[in-house]
Amino acid sequence: MMMKEIVKKAVETHNLTKDEIIELLSNDNEKDELFDAADKLRRLYKGEGVHLRGLIEFSNYCRQNCMYCGIRRDNKELQRYRLEPERIIELATSAVLTGYKTIVLQSGEDPWYTTDKMCHIIKEVKKTDAAITISIGECNLEDYRAFKNAGADRFLLKVETSDRELYKNLHPGMDYDNRIECIRNLKRAGFETGTGCLIGLPGQTLESLAKDILFFKELDADMIGVGPFIPHRDTPLSGSMGGTLTLAVKVMAIVRLLLPDINIPATTSMETVNPMGRIMALCAGANAIMPNVGDYEYKRLYSIYPGKSHINDDIDKTRERIIRMIESIGRFVSEDYGYRK
Ligand code: 5AD
Repeated sequence: MMMKEIVKKAVETHNLTKDEIIELLSNDNEKDELFDAADKLRRLYKGEGVHLRGLIEFSNYCRQNCMYCGIRRDNKELQRYRLEPERIIELATSAVLTGYKTIVLQSGEDPWYTTDKMCHIIKEVKKTDAAITISIGECNLEDYRAFKNAGADRFLLKVETSDRELYKNLHPGMDYDNRIECIRNLKRAGFETGTGCLIGLPGQTLESLAKDILFFKELDADMIGVGPFIPHRDTPLSGSMGGTLTLAVKVMAIVRLLLPDINIPATTSMETVNPMGRIMALCAGANAIMPNVGDYEYKRLYSIYPGKSHINDDIDKTRERIIRMIESIGRFVSEDYGYRK
């Protein structure tokens, strides 16, 4: 089939075969057709509102050792920090006062935050009436249930890659099957479940990416975040090539065709590889942005990848800049919570 027919089939049926996805990913000449189709579906299913999710990166301690990640356990160059629960609650509260309807609490896998501590934080932040998204990695089902009962609404846990062999090479000490089980447990616990993958990892093929997309579809994920891999100096992958914005936006656009009603962020990593990255994503299927609402010092130290832009901007400046970006393309900031359904 030709590009045009594959896009048409996806728009009508929200289904594609692996080979059809690979065809879309390899064709670079007609990518605008893909982007336009994703943009149309986004408008039809989600409207013109863009959801802002206020992101608090509360600890850069991590017990995992992912080969690509700047906050991996073996990075001894990094100064570590963790915020006191009361500080996290304060930051969340001021973000809600600024207008955020969702607070995203993200960290490395840091056992200092016991289940009880996390539940306390969630309960206090929930008093602001914001929706709460948690992104703290792999836990057991009982912990996920406890976070849900404490008031968390959504949880992000990226599969990073659904290519078993690649997963194994990039995540020493971690287990692919357990990753998948954790993601399924999030659904069992009743979360709106977000996952996603990195684009352009060394050894990753277009076929791997096609499988990632089909995994998201099979899971019926509620949110998908994808972004280019950006090599970090203090990791074993420092000398690798990074992923491209174009490929990341293509993967994202195909996800929109297959899962038309989900939430898809225009990610910070897209903006990091290209200042226009977020705008491109918003025009090719994305309908959310996760601005950082934390302190300057911690934005710098939460260096998953290098080169994050605008880290000097404070919470008000960040919000203004992002609203301007959204309005410059004829969209508006959504006033509602932005659940999937
Ligand atoms: N480049 C881009 N994204 C990265 N992440 C981790 N390391 C990198 C990197 N070097 C992403 C992972 C993780 C999210 C919090 O950050 O996908 O889930």
